[in-house]
Amino acid sequence: MITFENKPEINAEEIKDALTFCNRQILNNLPQFTDKFQKAYSEGGFYQPVENDDWTCGFWTGEIWLAYEFSGDERLKAAGETQIHSFLERIENKIAVDHHDMGFLYSPSCVAGYKLIGSSEGRKAAILAADQLIRRYHPIGEFIQAWGPMDAPENYRLIIDCLLNLPLLYWASEETGDAKYREIAEKHIHTAVANVIREDASTWHTFFFDMETGAPDHGATCQGYRDGSAWARGQAWGVYGMALAYKYTGREEYITLFKRVTEYFLTHLPEDMVPFWDLEFTDGDDQPRDSSSASIAACGILEMVKYLKPEEQGYYKKIARQLVKALYDHYAVKDMESSNGLVLHSTYSNHSPYNTCNHYGVDECNLWGDYFYMEALTRMDKEWELYW
Ligand code: GLY
Repeated sequence: MITFENKPEINAEEIKDALTFCNRQILNNLPQFTDKFQKAYSEGGFYQPVENDDWTCGFWTGEIWLAYEFSGDERLKAAGETQIHSFLERIENKIAVDHHDMGFLYSPSCVAGYKLIGSSEGRKAAILAADQLIRRYHPIGEFIQAWGPMDAPENYRLIIDCLLNLPLLYWASEETGDAKYREIAEKHIHTAVANVIREDASTWHTFFFDMETGAPDHGATCQGYRDGSAWARGQAWGVYGMALAYKYTGREEYITLFKRVTEYFLTHLPEDMVPFWDLEFTDGDDQPRDSSSASIAACGILEMVKYLKPEEQGYYKKIARQLVKALYDHYAVKDMESSNGLVLHSTYSNHSPYNTCNHYGVDECNLWGDYFYMEALTRMDKEWELYW
């Protein structure tokens, strides 16, 4: 197992300092971003206000709830409630919800608000979102389709990111007593894991199936550098996805897969432990970072630590603390004049000669990078009940 012997770990004082800054930054942002949401990525370090119509809006509300947990400031609670109302309207009116990202949208916003303050609007909205998500399930092929209309071969695929959308389904089964959500989640996990993780534990971003038979067809990247490379964030979704898969299914094989996917991620980090946007690249390559991948991986590792044998926990805890220390020291925003976000140097979508991506949100803050940095800090600050 790879170790990073010369790398410092974040300490309790630094965790408090980081959360204090995040809390202040979020409070400062409330006047502009309560009735509106932050855009998926910053431009020149600054988020602009947008309507609640992207797959990313839930992360901003999630940041508000994490800040509320930290400081108990009533202004945060009121903003969170306003945003939950917006999420209820969004799902009732089906605004930009024809995709699989219901978990990213509704877990850190509405499930969180229900768990933290008993929001009945949050509960209602999140159950409607779970209903919306299971409509994308293909019984032939046994997976939840990520994007696009359901009847087109070019859309007949799952993506690794979806592992984070499934906790919403487990939560909905728990809340409603109806097993259908959980059963679909379990089928999807099985299909995803069997296909997106390669022999060497690197991961496909997306995987296609045959529409007639449901048989696995081929892997392809969308946001990675090329087919066959490991998109850094996809690998990080795999790390956290395996931890959540184990949490919800208790299947031992997911612990083994977690360790292998994590090892691949860690062995492809550059010197400062914060990955380039695709794990193909390393020190000396003139490529942007994706700092959000380090935060996502740290959260997944901290989740999995709970289920590992005591003698294994120390290794993973240390790695998570080293990852967050690297972010805190060199990537976190420290000065509100330079950015209204929390973590710099993330990459949403970088074009390459071999992928189908647009070029935006490159070397900027992005909402999930900010959210998962705060989640990782919160996990190290106290016993934290998951929003996922
Ligand atoms: N789930 C989309 C992304 O990670 O960019």
